[in-house]
Amino acid sequence: MTVIVSATVPADLLARIEAAHPVIHVPPGTAPQDVVPADRRRSVRGMLCTLRTRVDAPLLEAFPALEVVSNYAVGFDNVQVETVSERGVLVCNTPGVLDAAVADLTFAFVICLARNVVPMHEFVRSGAWTRSAAPLAADLAGKTIGLLGMGRIGRMVARRARAFDMDVCYHNRNRDEASEQGGLARYVGRDQLFAESDFVSVHVPLSDATRGGIGAREFELMKKSAFFINTARGAVVDEPALIAALQAGRIAGAGLDVMVQEPLDAASALCSLPNVLLQPHAGSATVETRRAMIQMAADNLLLALGGQTPRAMVNPAVWAARAQAAR
Ligand code: DGY
Repeated sequence: MTVIVSATVPADLLARIEAAHPVIHVPPGTAPQDVVPADRRRSVRGMLCTLRTRVDAPLLEAFPALEVVSNYAVGFDNVQVETVSERGVLVCNTPGVLDAAVADLTFAFVICLARNVVPMHEFVRSGAWTRSAAPLAADLAGKTIGLLGMGRIGRMVARRARAFDMDVCYHNRNRDEASEQGGLARYVGRDQLFAESDFVSVHVPLSDATRGGIGAREFELMKKSAFFINTARGAVVDEPALIAALQAGRIAGAGLDVMVQEPLDAASALCSLPNVLLQPHAGSATVETRRAMIQMAADNLLLALGGQTPRAMVNPAVWAARAQAAR
């Protein structure tokens, strides 16, 4: 039984994987079927990979004995879950351990946008301060943040916003009664969220249902003074419509950790707009969080291949069916 590792794995964890199974290393972002020699493909039972590996029919055809895909991410939009599940391949991910880090970066955008942190920094460095007074920024207290999506990360952002005395509203497919009753956030309709919020922050996964779902209509609903923040997935937004709204001053600015095309080409209009703050899909990119994620991804791989229930599964029905078949 062989496993593919297509991620940067710390030495101690790699040693644990290698002690259990022979490892074939595939450079992250490379299709494993383009790298693994044909005579070794039939032995591959497991794969640990990043969001950059497309887990689709061509991959499954190349590795017919594949049993487990362990994604080193909470998101799994790189995986065609239906196709994979039909073939009985288990998919695991890393929920929970990155919520605080992503919420922190979201809130960094909120503070930087409201307080003009980056332009103010330039104002000092360029010597402009010696010639004029800095423009005034905006308070957070009393402002409304609208969370589109109220899962674990949305709730963490809500807690940070409440600590800054912000008003928090949310829209989600399912109501979060506990957050409402606990005074964390109030529920609003989707349009109302865009219309009322001073900051709109996106926390929905990318799926067929959400792809391109935020576009010109939504930016038209927003206040001219409002900011748009996305630390979820670039493709949930109609990016040309966002660029048009920013260029026209239809909204005040944006904080984007994610884009449709990553890495973002420096020629993108997003890179030259003065009212945009960018990050390189770094929501979970802290030493502690990435360690917790890769640890969970390695655990998931080894547990599943060893016949033990992994820490998190995207398609648990596949696991249940296997257990049923083994009885
Ligand atoms: C995830 O885990 O889905 C993040 O986007 C990766 O940083």
